[in-house]
Amino acid sequence: MDIIGIGYLGFESTRLDEWRSYGPEVLGFQIGASPEADPDSLYFRIDDRRHRFAFHPGQADRLAYIGWEARGKLEFQAAVKRLRDAGVEVTVGDAALRELRGVKEVIRFRDPVGYQHELFYAQKWMPRSFIPGRPHGGFVAGARGLGHLVVITPEFPPELEHFLTELLGFHYYGAGAGKGKTAFYRSRLNESTSHDIAYGHGPGKMGIQHIGLFVKSLRDVGETYDIVKQRKLPMMMTLGQHTQDPHVSFYHFSPGGFAIEIITELEPWHQDGFELNPEKLSTWGHELVGPILGPSVRAPEEVLDADGLAVLAGLQRAA
Ligand SMILES: [Fe+2]
Repeated sequence: MDIIGIGYLGFESTRLDEWRSYGPEVLGFQIGASPEADPDSLYFRIDDRRHRFAFHPGQADRLAYIGWEARGKLEFQAAVKRLRDAGVEVTVGDAALRELRGVKEVIRFRDPVGYQHELFYAQKWMPRSFIPGRPHGGFVAGARGLGHLVVITPEFPPELEHFLTELLGFHYYGAGAGKGKTAFYRSRLNESTSHDIAYGHGPGKMGIQHIGLFVKSLRDVGETYDIVKQRKLPMMMTLGQHTQDPHVSFYHFSPGGFAIEIITELEPWHQDGFELNPEKLSTWGHELVGPILGPSVRAPEEVLDADGLAVLAGLQRAA
């Protein structure tokens, strides 16, 4: 599948007011226009796309959907066929959903553990339209997606790996320095970073662990770090440099209870010719000063909706 990366992410949230100030003031996000049909949700921009993040008012703070971007119409059609041929239940987005997402076409489907995914192409875009919420040098997104995502899964069955590598066509990157069963994957067209998504095995647990956002300069990492410290926001890991990507980053907790990793690329990714087995997570820094799993990681019943729980229950019955 010719997937570029994560085009957008959707959340359900009880804390829209917190996000409304945190997004622009801490991260530098721009508040986008909410669609007419969805005036109560909060939409954020980080580049010239109509939006990259949507926070919908709800009963819980949880990830609602992961929006993968196909390169274009032909790649999208091929992907839909591939999913259907494999027996994956695919829901075609109607005109109302296409308008909410700002895309030409979109489908919805679940992964084998119950997370909701979407696939789309051609999201609305206007060149040079992004205005950050505070002085900020900008995010690296555009043609490579908004960044990366790490989710926790209560089960790590072969079906999940098959779904990611054989159906979605992701490269398996390995476990990195992750402890236990953690696996990193990158979409087929991603030639810039080691992963778009990682699944970490946490028996009995589910939820989003962190999102990695790429900023254009080290200065934006440092200035965000200062703002996070000034506001005394909970920190997860201090500044540091990972072994598997030559990036400088730090992690702090967002109002959603998951961490945000603010990253800048010091040098191009080295596109490993072999599976890395790092001695440790980072070459320097990244001191763990908070929990590795925030309050966004909870029991599956608190993270998935009824349809997602049915998928997870079906998998557990079959095991
Ligand atoms: Fe990360």
